[in-house]
Amino acid sequence: MGMRLAIFALALVSPAFAIAPIPTPQQARDASSYVPNAYIIELSDPQVSKRTLVSRHEEVYDAMRQLGIAFSIGQEYNTPEVLIGAAIRLFDVAKLSEIPGVQAIRPVIKVPAPKPVSSTIITDPNATGLPDSFSTHVMTGVDKVHAQGNFGQGIKIGMTDSVPPGIDYNHPLLGEGFGPGFKVIGGYDFVGDDYTGENTPSPDDDPLDECNGHGSHVAGIIAASPANGLGISGVAYEASLASYRILGCSGYTTDDLIVAAMILAYNEKMDILTLSLGGDSGWTEGTASVVASRIAAQGRVVTIAAGNDGQDGAWYTSSPGGGIGAISVASVDNIVSPIQNATVQGVAHNPIPYFLALPLNVTGALPIYATSTNISQTDDACSPLPDSTPDLSQYLVVVHRGTCLFMQKLANIAAKGGTVVAIYNSDTGAFSSISVGGYKAVLIGADEGKFLVQQFIAGVNITVSFPQSDAEFELPNPAGGLISAFSTIGPTFDMYLSPALAAPGGNILSTLPLKLGGYGLESGTSMATPFVAGAAALVLKARGTAPAVGRAVLEILQTTAASVAASHTDGAPLQTVAQQGAGLIQVDRAINMQTVVSPGQIALNDTAHFKAKHSIWVTNIGARTVTYQIQHVPAGTVGTVDSDSSFVQSVPTALPGAAASVAFSASNITVHAGQTKRVDAFFTPPVGLDKATLPLYSGFIHVVGPAETLKVTYLGVAASLKAVQVVDASDRYFGFALPAVVQPTGQVQEGPTNYTFADGDYPFLLFRLAFGCPKLQLDLIDKDTPFMPTLPAGERAALSSSTFSKVKTIGPLGELDYQPRSTDDPFSGYNTLQFMGTFANGTRIDDGQYRVLFRALKVAGNPRKEEDYESWLSPQFGVVTETLE
Ligand SMILES: *[C@@H]1O[C@H](CO)[C@@H](O)[C@H](O)[C@H]1NC(C)=O
Ligand SMILES: *[C@@H]1O[C@H](CO)[C@@H](O)[C@H](O)[C@H]1NC(C)=O
Ligand SMILES: *[C@@H]1O[C@H](CO)[C@@H](O)[C@H](O)[C@H]1NC(C)=O
Ligand SMILES: *[C@@H]1O[C@H](CO)[C@@H](O)[C@H](O)[C@H]1NC(C)=O
Ligand SMILES: *[C@@H]1O[C@H](CO)[C@@H](O)[C@H](O)[C@H]1NC(C)=O
Ligand SMILES: *[C@@H]1O[C@H](CO)[C@@H](O)[C@H](O)[C@H]1NC(C)=O
Ligand SMILES: *[C@@H]1O[C@H](CO)[C@@H](O)[C@H](O)[C@H]1NC(C)=O
Ligand SMILES: *[C@@H]1O[C@H](CO)[C@@H](O)[C@H](O)[C@H]1NC(C)=O
Ligand SMILES: *[C@@H]1O[C@H](CO)[C@@H](O)[C@H](O)[C@H]1NC(C)=O
Repeated sequence: MGMRLAIFALALVSPAFAIAPIPTPQQARDASSYVPNAYIIELSDPQVSKRTLVSRHEEVYDAMRQLGIAFSIGQEYNTPEVLIGAAIRLFDVAKLSEIPGVQAIRPVIKVPAPKPVSSTIITDPNATGLPDSFSTHVMTGVDKVHAQGNFGQGIKIGMTDSVPPGIDYNHPLLGEGFGPGFKVIGGYDFVGDDYTGENTPSPDDDPLDECNGHGSHVAGIIAASPANGLGISGVAYEASLASYRILGCSGYTTDDLIVAAMILAYNEKMDILTLSLGGDSGWTEGTASVVASRIAAQGRVVTIAAGNDGQDGAWYTSSPGGGIGAISVASVDNIVSPIQNATVQGVAHNPIPYFLALPLNVTGALPIYATSTNISQTDDACSPLPDSTPDLSQYLVVVHRGTCLFMQKLANIAAKGGTVVAIYNSDTGAFSSISVGGYKAVLIGADEGKFLVQQFIAGVNITVSFPQSDAEFELPNPAGGLISAFSTIGPTFDMYLSPALAAPGGNILSTLPLKLGGYGLESGTSMATPFVAGAAALVLKARGTAPAVGRAVLEILQTTAASVAASHTDGAPLQTVAQQGAGLIQVDRAINMQTVVSPGQIALNDTAHFKAKHSIWVTNIGARTVTYQIQHVPAGTVGTVDSDSSFVQSVPTALPGAAASVAFSASNITVHAGQTKRVDAFFTPPVGLDKATLPLYSGFIHVVGPAETLKVTYLGVAASLKAVQVVDASDRYFGFALPAVVQPTGQVQEGPTNYTFADGDYPFLLFRLAFGCPKLQLDLIDKDTPFMPTLPAGERAALSSSTFSKVKTIGPLGELDYQPRSTDDPFSGYNTLQFMGTFANGTRIDDGQYRVLFRALKVAGNPRKEEDYESWLSPQFGVVTETLE
């Protein structure tokens, strides 16, 4: 009787949610998005002459000195219509609010350098056939505007931007010079190359970028000169650029510098400000967002990247992109992809396309070796290769895509000496760029892969080579024209539409500093943002630069944008407005439209703040009477939260068939030339959806004339946001329940514990936010204070009907406003707050036994109502600084 052997291969399923390691105290400090003890204070406008404004700052500084507050001053802001204030460093922030004239105090926030999602450097500017940014111009009608002779002549665009938004102005496509008369007319370097965010900036007048390239790439998208070997050109290549640099060659920047750069660009009369940067936020608040809103209200166009956090799910807009009135820009993938061909020797076969912009750096013809002869086996090379495998160093190794990470397959192949790998696609996978780390590996098509494996099985003696020139061509990108997967999904927690609209940002060819090769392909909303800045320049060139035009640009671009589908499959609904905004801009339509539709967007808010009736105004600016049909075109409705766990899903769930319904006061309206008419829309949110999934519904109201269609974009959530749990009280992330206090030893504090608050003996609070939190307050209370917290979920005690102020606290330990939610990221998906043994104002806490009272206000909650908070009490801890004799 034979024995049956069952071989259980280790299934390589990555758990949906790996248990994350507890951060070390150092990691806890690094994770903070705040600069310790640094604030931006906003001073009330005294409504007097400019001369005395200067003393406004002095008045407040004097008052601070009189109160005995020690402080130092950084950036000062003195532009009444935007911001009067200063960035200051001090301990006793609580006392500042006592000073008359201090209107707002906001912490200084660290903002990371934007990283392009992928980038490839192209060194041969004469290479032909590479994806031409011209394809992006065709996608958006910019080619048609150029044909009308509009290149944005005379419009000034300030790149208060990016990483380092310095520009390599010596680039032949960027004007080969700096100053009046050149393409780059000016700018300022707030920081210098060596600035990291941690050291002292060394400002100078020269924003040259030679170390990073992001700024030069952005500049080329706006303004690269045409007629070059690559066939690229900027959207508004006759506009003038100024660069306000706020990032060094490495590290991060802070929002006090972003604000200073925006205000300088404003004061230097830039018509358009563009910012290809941002940090997590989810809110319309934060100094940079507020300043962006105010500059937009003054009639300047402000374009800001929506962010590259699409993989983190909905409710993740970045700041300052969330600023009201600023144009937050999503990314659409380019319609073409750069492709290279490999060639086959030994049998007659067509060249094999592989997904890379540049030839794979492999010379000579390589024989092939397939790691599996079963073309249906998707876990090919997920486990170590068998001992019988030969030395693979001289082969092109052919492996099937699937089951485990590319890097895992490549590591198993490398263990047998393999260095050059062709990964063949699964039948369903997208033909796109793949992440292969430092390995020489490329993605090829499924059919080509199967062909190679069959040759290997048949023992046919073939070789494959990778020509280093003349093998590039453009392939239509199957995802082209769709929203890039990396593009951040909104809306803000206060239900503003963000992103506002979209532009090409995936696979964009533009300029790089000459030292970095001159040209490169990059992807990111950082690329989509300058595209809209360029488009705005074309609109301003056509319609004038009056503030009223500047204020209307967002609405013009939104009402003329093309709605983007969720996929290219027939019958798929339109992409949710939460990720596309109003859709892909159509610049020719924006410039040539004969109808003005207002507003551009309608925020329907949550069910608690929903209003059914919204008016739409239609103005006929053409020469003859037009009858417009009014139609409702729904976009996708998506569930955003996992109803079991109350965590935001990393990929929103499409809810087919669920859409709002909209009735109109008239199905058509006839508008004479020069006339404006109103039509009312009455919205009904979709019914029968699970509120716990926070379903976002969205769509468009079309105003259809015989020659053009304009539209109004709407978005709402079919649930009450106040019902959403804010604090993660589960053990899902770390394996123990949160919030928790972590001891310096790295252990979670269980029972009462004493700390000396000296020599590293500081605990920290570890918590996660399941959703955005407008106000997070930490207070010190006596260990015996009667209080029944809501977390972990339990009975609410007598205090639940009491007001917030009735809890007896000893003093505030800290307050954080407008917090983003946490992500699933095992390295950064949490928040920490280190206890220093002091109150928020820096005063030492007396020896004694205490608890921390942690209160988190719910979205749309009333800060004065106890029941609108979630609360948690820490275990008892002692402040024991005195040594007993
Ligand atoms: C590109 O082509 C131009 C004109 O044909 C030539 O002058 C230039 O040297 C070429 N550049 C490179 C890097 O090959
Ligand atoms: C590359 O290969 C594809 C498919 O075999 C072919 O259609 C295309 O013409 C080739 N292009 C070049 C530049 O070799
Ligand atoms: C190509 O690979 C060779 C050998 O691996 C290396 O020396 C060379 O620098 C590489 N060239 C480029 C452009 O990366
Ligand atoms: C090939 O792989 C598929 C998928 O793993 C498996 O179902 C099938 O049995 C394999 N065929 C052979 C002949 O091993
Ligand atoms: C395979 O072809 C190469 C040249 O293409 C030749 O050098 C080699 O000897 C051949 N090997 C066999 C086993 O036919
Ligand atoms: C939605 O309602 C909340 C609560 O009233 C409000 O703060 C917020 O501004 C509203 N959002 C919009 C987009 O109007
Ligand atoms: C406009 O709507 C009215 C009724 O609301 C209808 O009778 C008429 O036929 C419509 N006209 C056009 C041109 O659609
Ligand atoms: C904490 O310190 C207090 C005062 O020194 C002492 O009475 C108490 O026993 C200590 N508790 C622990 C858990 O060490
Ligand atoms: C700091 O705050 C604590 C708690 O509110 C208070 O007792 C103390 O007097 C404050 N210190 C100063 C210097 O104001």
